Amino acid sequence: MIALHALRIATPLVRLVPQRVDHVLEVHAFGRVHSSPLGVAAGLDKDARVFEALGLLGFGHVEIGTVTLDPQPGNERPRIFRRRAERALVNRMGFPSEGAEAVATRLERRPKGLVIGANVSRRRDGSLAEAAAAARRLAPLVDYLVVNVSSPNTPGLRDLQSVERLREVVEAVRPAVGDTPLLVKIAPDLADDDVVAIAHLARELRLEGIVATNTTIVHDGPQGGLSGPPLRARSLEVLRLLRANVDDDVVLVSVGGVETADDVLERIDAGATLVQAYTAFVYGGPRWPSRVNRELAKRLRKRVAKSDNRAKGW
Ligand code: FNR
Repeated sequence: MIALHALRIATPLVRLVPQRVDHVLEVHAFGRVHSSPLGVAAGLDKDARVFEALGLLGFGHVEIGTVTLDPQPGNERPRIFRRRAERALVNRMGFPSEGAEAVATRLERRPKGLVIGANVSRRRDGSLAEAAAAARRLAPLVDYLVVNVSSPNTPGLRDLQSVERLREVVEAVRPAVGDTPLLVKIAPDLADDDVVAIAHLARELRLEGIVATNTTIVHDGPQGGLSGPPLRARSLEVLRLLRANVDDDVVLVSVGGVETADDVLERIDAGATLVQAYTAFVYGGPRWPSRVNRELAKRLRKRVAKSDNRAKGW
């Protein structure tokens, strides 16, 4: 993608922009302090090429990937389509990946301040053992690890979301990640009962968190997963269902249709620990994360002031 190429070239310049630290935005998760609850969703920095620039633009964390154990080219182009009127995208990337080894080499030089997650899955014809091996290679290098069982562009992958199959997935990957927090990423197209069942499974298997949601296949555009505002309502609904059914310490990462500071706040109020975006950044450009951070900080400061006043009896 041209924009990613530009971002990579621009990294030394972005480094020169003074970094604003605003403590009101800080969030604690995965044993780390995040400079903002807003992070980059998986798929943007698939091969760990631009995470440093993304952090400097204002994101509190970057989820690398999806990474597969061995390299694969993904689907034929065109594989991303803009739906401008809705500020949405449809993609059928099919996990193009340089493979876990190449990504691991880049992560070894990661800046310590930025929180980084790795999102792994299996190749088109790959096995669960492959996903576990990718997790084993990357887990020591990142702050959290996500198993993606919800991309619509790898045949059969979404079947892994049934409770029995998901149990197998977690049991296969858990020993590979050691102490690194383990999360699963789920689709918005699951029935409510399935979402609740996954929440209960997360509790039983002591998963550290859930990323919700991936793109939806329910749309009338070209084949692929739809992202952006049309996903917003369902993503929020899934978050609420999950929060009502997991323990408080389970990290819920809410993603899908987040565009504004109010959207971020709405997710946090609905029980999200962290919030991610992809499509809004594509449409909003490089200044989008700092704009959202600034607005979010204003709203949070107002809240702090209000509750201070209440505490003083004003
Ligand atoms: C994605 N997404 C994605 N998710 C994932 O787990 N692994 C991946 O490799 C990708 N790849 C990918 C490519 C493109 C072009 C898009 C638009 C999206 C899904 C993404 O992480 C996110 O879950 C959805 O896009 C919903 O969030 P937004 O875009 O509405 O903020």
